[in-house]
Amino acid sequence: MHLQQNISLLPYNTFGIDVQAAYFTELKDINDLEAITELPYEKHILGGGSNILLTQPIKGLVIHNQLKGITVEKEDDNHVWLRVQAGEVWHELVLYAVNTGLGGIENLALIPGTVGASPMQNIGAYGVEAKDTIESVTFWYWNEKRLLTYNNRECEFGYRASIFKEGLKDKVFITSVVYKLSKQPRYNTSYGAIEQELEEMGVKEPSVKAIAYAVMNIRMSKLPDPKVIGNAGSFFKNPTIARTEYEILLEKYPSLPSYKVSDNLVKIPAGWLIEQCGWKGYKIDDMGVHAKQALVLVNYGKAHGKEIWQLSGEILRSVKERFGIELEREVQVW
Ligand code: FAD
Ligand code: EPU
Repeated sequence: MHLQQNISLLPYNTFGIDVQAAYFTELKDINDLEAITELPYEKHILGGGSNILLTQPIKGLVIHNQLKGITVEKEDDNHVWLRVQAGEVWHELVLYAVNTGLGGIENLALIPGTVGASPMQNIGAYGVEAKDTIESVTFWYWNEKRLLTYNNRECEFGYRASIFKEGLKDKVFITSVVYKLSKQPRYNTSYGAIEQELEEMGVKEPSVKAIAYAVMNIRMSKLPDPKVIGNAGSFFKNPTIARTEYEILLEKYPSLPSYKVSDNLVKIPAGWLIEQCGWKGYKIDDMGVHAKQALVLVNYGKAHGKEIWQLSGEILRSVKERFGIELEREVQVW
């Protein structure tokens, strides 16, 4: 283990925020976790830094996850179970699956970050979530100094939620994830834009590869590339409200978009609420709200994390005032 001091986190977060970590180490060997456990610093786990907002210097230790490796755990006529080390880049896993014809995660193409973070908030896009293919998650429990494995049910997955983001928050280091991928994939093209994109691409018969590329095209047309404009994807979650509340709002706002969650619950796109409040394309100093996607806050240069945090607070308040809906931040604030 190589322990470094006073390291700038600028290259390690997609928001492009420049703060220092007092202590920093790259974790390449799982056996180092035991020694790291004994270090007397508060521990922060960093994957691709694509879902964090850095608002202050980090006094403790940042552990940059570099655990690598993909192995076939088992296989039958219909499925392959892949054990993937947590420091693998998520999109590279998607490409690996796509290139070997394995289905299940093609709709999640181009989501930045690491495999280890995929169960954290149960990443999702275009009608699919990580939980649909996660068989188990193995993690190092800091307090007990040992590895534990949870099956899918034990992970308590929900919309942008899991036990790792709630009850086990800051208590574990996810070291590997087993995904159950399909040799005879069932394609999920129910998200309208995919069908349309496949048509534009001239694809007659969908395949895992075609769907992955359709998703990539759609994403590139809407979401800012963090290499060009700093951001962490959706800053807020889409809120779920009671159907009764939805019906009252619908009378006032007939164009209010919605998705059914259950008979009594409705999900509302936060991007729509934020756009209605006039924030879309807003820019002040080096930060703002993306012009093509109001759910994405952006750093055009040297914005500070604290300023972006404040902007997100103003957005929260204006949505609450106009619609009575309390947005919740998706991004993890450090
Ligand atoms: P980080 O940002 O490094 O970490 C996020 C949190 O997880 C931190 O609290 C960290 O401590 C914790 N963590 C990370 N790794 C581990 C580990 N091994 N063990 C324990 N805790 C850990 N998300 C979606 O769900 N869907 C999308 O469509 C989507 N699109 C995006 C588009 C863009 C352009 C960007 C920038 C982000 C997008 N995101 C999306 C958000 C982000 O990509 C995901 O949340 C991703 O899983 C974060 O991975 P990461 O490795 O970068 O995590
Ligand atoms: N909308 C607007 N204005 C906007 C943006 C969106 O009115 O500026 C409305 C439109 O009605 C649109 C709807 O919101 O049809 C949905 O927009 P979009 O398809 O872009 O998806 P989203 O709800 O904004 C969610 C996820 C994304 C994920 C996409 C695709 C959340 C918080 N976000 O965004 O995930 O990629 O769906 O499935 O659930 C992320 O979590 O970081 C993320 C990018």
